[in-house]
Amino acid sequence: METKVILMKDGSNCRFFDEAAALIQKGEVVAFPTETVYGLGADALNPGAVRKIFEAKGRPADNPLIVHIAEKEDVYNLAERVPEKAEALMEVFWPGPLTLVLPAKKSIPKVTTGGLDTVGIRMPAHEIARGLILASGLPIAAPSANTSGRPSPTAAAHVLEDMDGKIPLILDGGPAEVGLESTVLSCASEPFTLLRPGGVSREMIEAVIGSISVDPAVKRTLAADERPKAPGMKYKHYAPRAEVIVVEGAPENSAAYIQKKLLEEKDVGVMAFSEDAACFKGAKVITLGSRENLREVAANLFAALRAFDQTDVKRIYAQSVSAEGIGEAVLNRLHKAAGFHIVKV
Ligand code: TXA
Ligand code: MG
Repeated sequence: METKVILMKDGSNCRFFDEAAALIQKGEVVAFPTETVYGLGADALNPGAVRKIFEAKGRPADNPLIVHIAEKEDVYNLAERVPEKAEALMEVFWPGPLTLVLPAKKSIPKVTTGGLDTVGIRMPAHEIARGLILASGLPIAAPSANTSGRPSPTAAAHVLEDMDGKIPLILDGGPAEVGLESTVLSCASEPFTLLRPGGVSREMIEAVIGSISVDPAVKRTLAADERPKAPGMKYKHYAPRAEVIVVEGAPENSAAYIQKKLLEEKDVGVMAFSEDAACFKGAKVITLGSRENLREVAANLFAALRAFDQTDVKRIYAQSVSAEGIGEAVLNRLHKAAGFHIVKV
């Protein structure tokens, strides 16, 4: 199959929305931009269409998809029950990077929910995502548009890297603004549980509904007999070909530790903050942005992980970030890319 890429200059490009929406309505898969990462979308209510998403990604069948909607009210067509606290979160954070896991209506195919009786629902803020949902008139199931296990795509070129020949169409909306996937919050039972940190931070959620719990899979690898609440959290994620080691500690300590390693080892890469980048001589250095601006770091992280795959480095040292605000999400993705290989200095 030939994969067409359409550059969408702005959200008013109606002809292309019609072309993309017609594909969705026919049960095909279309990649599209959202404010978090690019998604691989299909009609959430058509099991055959949803199966094509799993095939294109090579995704395990027990890993559920997020269903994307264009209006807040659409949540009531998909969820059996919406707790008041979830409604309060919808009011504040939708449209935006927050996915709410709610009891699913029976009409949602099991292939979409990975066999669960809950469904993850999100109303994206991106104009092109919203335009596509409205033009198709359907809820759109969409995981991140990467091959399973690879870093999520934050640009159309990343989607093409993974999906060329596998899907008919990619809508190119430029670089993703947030750069990390949405926050996933289970609202199926009290207290609500953070399953995946993202663009809406835990502190932002707690300011609206009070304290929430955090699924253990967010912070560490689960033992073989533990079941994470978000099935996706148990799979290997974001890993570049090279081994990743996260170096945690005060900036000067982490910089000194990495400098010492550069003297001892060959074919080393460094993911560095712009403040320290100049001191890693002799390594392939990719700068994530300033340590003072974690939103910028979040937006650059996945592109950096992908860029290392174009080099021949064997090991990547990553400077760590503080776990506040969006830092919790950045740290979670770094830890997963490293398979929780962390050195404290
Ligand atoms: O920002 C995002 O969320 C992007 C864009 C495209 O919207 N999508 C995305 O989807 O990241 P995906 O499939 O790559 O990640 C969805 C995560 C997985 O870890 C999955 O297990 C979890 O959400 N999830 C989805 N539905 C769930 C449910 N009913 N119960 C528990 N976890 C669920
Ligand atoms: Mg994903």
